[in-house]
Amino acid sequence: APPLKIGIAGLGTVGAGVVRMLARRKDEIAARTGRAVEVVAVSARDPSRNRDCDLSGLRWFDDAVALAGDPEIDVFVELIGGHEGVAKAAVEVAIAAGHTVVTANKALLAHHGVTLASAAEAKGVGIRFEAAVAGGIPVIKTLREALLGNRIARVSGILNGTCNYILTRMRDEGLSFESCLDQAQKLGYAEADPTFDVDGFDTAHKLSLLAALAFGVQPDPDAIHVEGIRSITLADLEAADELGYRIKLLGVAARTESTVELRVHPTMVPKHWPIAQVSGVTNAVAIDGDAVALTLVGPGAGSDATASAVVGDICDLASGSSGTPFGWRAETLRPAGKAAIQRH
Ligand code: NDP
Ligand code: HSE
Repeated sequence: APPLKIGIAGLGTVGAGVVRMLARRKDEIAARTGRAVEVVAVSARDPSRNRDCDLSGLRWFDDAVALAGDPEIDVFVELIGGHEGVAKAAVEVAIAAGHTVVTANKALLAHHGVTLASAAEAKGVGIRFEAAVAGGIPVIKTLREALLGNRIARVSGILNGTCNYILTRMRDEGLSFESCLDQAQKLGYAEADPTFDVDGFDTAHKLSLLAALAFGVQPDPDAIHVEGIRSITLADLEAADELGYRIKLLGVAARTESTVELRVHPTMVPKHWPIAQVSGVTNAVAIDGDAVALTLVGPGAGSDATASAVVGDICDLASGSSGTPFGWRAETLRPAGKAAIQRH
């Protein structure tokens, strides 16, 4: 088969990591998928920035939307971020041009995923987003493919690496919230606007996607009950510790008799529960199916972890696998109920 030609928009923490990983694993990917994967074009804002990856010979686009519509590419990889603006416009153009899309953008998919999935299905192209939830943990593939035989009752867990990193370092080292957040930003874990992390919206975006996959619903991310970690103090963490608990920011999506409830809030978790021991940037996703209940634990953010998920999606495409974006036909996705507010 001819090489699968990739255009990548966004060369930050994730995008540059993907370029590096595709170069590092080039021969192995071709051998394993039966098809060479070639990055042919890239886009970012600043052409002079050193990105610690080899961009020689690649076509450079100042305009990500122009790259998205470029007829020379087969797959458009969106790693810019944001749920409006250029990322959304570029993904729409890529689909209209008949390109399959790979993205790590949970904000975009939580807000516009069903519309984009409908457009993609009508066009016969795929949208892949393994990196959008829990970084390197293959939870999308697990829900979309591996657990299809199950009726899922609940999906829950630690879905934001930045928050878990902050809560862990505050408690373990007595550091301030601000210095932990600053460090998470330096390590490339945080969103461009870290409000999305610390106020819980990023977790809500990811939870929306998990609920779509697990339950066939299309949650309104703005209707989810969301509380973040900004108000958690060192004294709270120490008091929880004395009582035998860890405080974790959890996202929970649970099937009820008539609907699906979604909520995000800090939760006191008994110390001896495995999820209480998930520390630092690590994420954990617990899935309760009627046949299989399991918890996936792994790195939730960062360059290599996230690139691993993006590259996995690209390799699936090189192998010829696509599938519907949410594992359900878009027209069958029904609204999710508004969450009843529950406090623990
Ligand atoms: P960064 O801020 O590190 O990188 C963003 C990139 O987008 C930069 O290269 C920037 O260009 C480029 N960019 C911004 N605006 C434009 C534009 N108008 N046209 C073209 N390029 C543009 O973000 P991340 O790599 O951290 O995140 C990217 C996406 O991945 C986001 O959706 C994020 O939510 C998601 N994600 C991130 C994870 C992480 O651990 N960081 C984990 C999972 C998902 P320039 O470099 O020139 O400024
Ligand atoms: N900012 C996100 C986090 C990136 O910290 O989890 C991974 O989605």
